[in-house]
Amino acid sequence: MYGLVIFSLCLSAVYSQFPRACTTPEALKAKSCCPAWEDGSPCGSLSGRGQCRDWVVFTPLSAGQVPQPYDDRLNWPRNYFDNTCECFGNYSGYNCGECKFGYFGEKCDRTKTVVRKEIRELSRIELQRFFSYLALAKTTKSKDFVVLSTGNRHYRDTYRFVDATIYDVFSWIHYYSMKPIMINSSFIDPNKNYAHQGPAFPGWHRLGLLFLERQIQLLTGDEDIGLPYLDWRGETNCSMCDDAFLGSNDVQGNLSPYSYFAGWMAFCSGFNYPGAYCPAAGNDFQMERVHRNPGGNPLANRIPSFQDVEDTLKWRDYDRYPHDSTATRSFRNILEGFVRPSDGETFERNMHNLFHIYLGGTMSQIPISSNDPIFVLHHGFIDKIFEVWIRKYNGNPRIYPNNDELGQGPNECSTPYFPCYLNKDLLQVSTKFGYTYSVYQDL
Ligand SMILES: *[C@@H]1O[C@H](CO)[C@@H](O)[C@H](O)[C@H]1NC(C)=O
Ligand SMILES: *[C@@H]1O[C@H](CO)[C@@H](O)[C@H](O)[C@H]1NC(C)=O
Ligand SMILES: *[C@@H]1O[C@H](CO)[C@@H](O)[C@H](O)[C@H]1NC(C)=O
Repeated sequence: MYGLVIFSLCLSAVYSQFPRACTTPEALKAKSCCPAWEDGSPCGSLSGRGQCRDWVVFTPLSAGQVPQPYDDRLNWPRNYFDNTCECFGNYSGYNCGECKFGYFGEKCDRTKTVVRKEIRELSRIELQRFFSYLALAKTTKSKDFVVLSTGNRHYRDTYRFVDATIYDVFSWIHYYSMKPIMINSSFIDPNKNYAHQGPAFPGWHRLGLLFLERQIQLLTGDEDIGLPYLDWRGETNCSMCDDAFLGSNDVQGNLSPYSYFAGWMAFCSGFNYPGAYCPAAGNDFQMERVHRNPGGNPLANRIPSFQDVEDTLKWRDYDRYPHDSTATRSFRNILEGFVRPSDGETFERNMHNLFHIYLGGTMSQIPISSNDPIFVLHHGFIDKIFEVWIRKYNGNPRIYPNNDELGQGPNECSTPYFPCYLNKDLLQVSTKFGYTYSVYQDL
């Protein structure tokens, strides 16, 4: 009884998608996502927390001009909802029942800045706590969110919203953002997506980590937990891949049965074709286990170095035309890992991409890579480098470029998060979002 009360308090509301309350047949039919808060009013409007309003973000392609079926994530979230909650002041969440990142308390008037530490800086107890929180997130059904599943994206009447655990919702958001974009019933360049190969890349992943961090805070009631990161500079192999940390593996890539993530199934794995969304959701037996093979790929058998990171940070332009994986002398494209950091021009796999492919297994299948918790540690470090760059060059929403990548415009919502965060607004110092990074090794 006592436990239930605590859980219902802890799990009330927050972020990302799809809010369960907005996927009822009525809500979908009305295209409205303004659920009631505790006071019974939509978006807590009677308590002054927010209001239900028409979506007014910039829309590059208006639904009227684009023949159906087009990609359901374009003009996010207009395909699903014409109105959503707009929250006032420090309130946030899909029904304004939550606080903005960095704010806490019933009235969201307490601020807190969590420190994200390098994983080797955690005490034994902190490390155990982190692993047990992850295990809890991997096994606790999300009360607030459901995920979208279909074997056939061309037919809307096959779409289903299904349950997932909190960690799996996090994994799914990444997977969903990366599915090939469908225009006029055909798929455009499969490398184009909403989270990569464009100016949205650093901010999109920043939001993903904030989502998981806050979900874990709410789940456990531990407001002080910050997700750790892994500063992989200077590593010659995955020294963290032992059973005390992230798990060792055999030659086939199977994780040791004595390691923390040995039993983890990779959510949305097993059906890697473009016309589907996670059709195995809810059927664990159809998914593969999280696996790895660090250093096993001769095309990616090293980890980016101290020098690579130092060189990455010398590029002053946040991003440059054509704002995709061919952009040269672009901090974003070098950090993402399509260009050699030292000269800013030679196309090679480096930085973010290199570490993914170096790890092999689940981490090297980028759409489902978020299933391996190393993803969280790796992106924590990528975000730390992004943060150092922001502070060095006065990162500012104003410098976020206009560009032609779908869903990556400055005034488009980072896709597919709820509520809307404009891509450009993620280009601000991390203290605006309630966290900082430990120093660990100088950057
Ligand atoms: C938001 O939180 C800050 C910091 O605690 C507080 O000073 C401010 O009054 C809050 N804003 C609103 C609108 O409640
Ligand atoms: C989709 O098809 C219509 C009609 O054939 C065409 O006018 C339109 O330009 C196409 N849109 C895109 C984005 O290719
Ligand atoms: C990783 O590298 C260290 C030092 O370079 C070495 O001692 C260790 O045996 C290596 N571990 C693996 C698993 O190869």
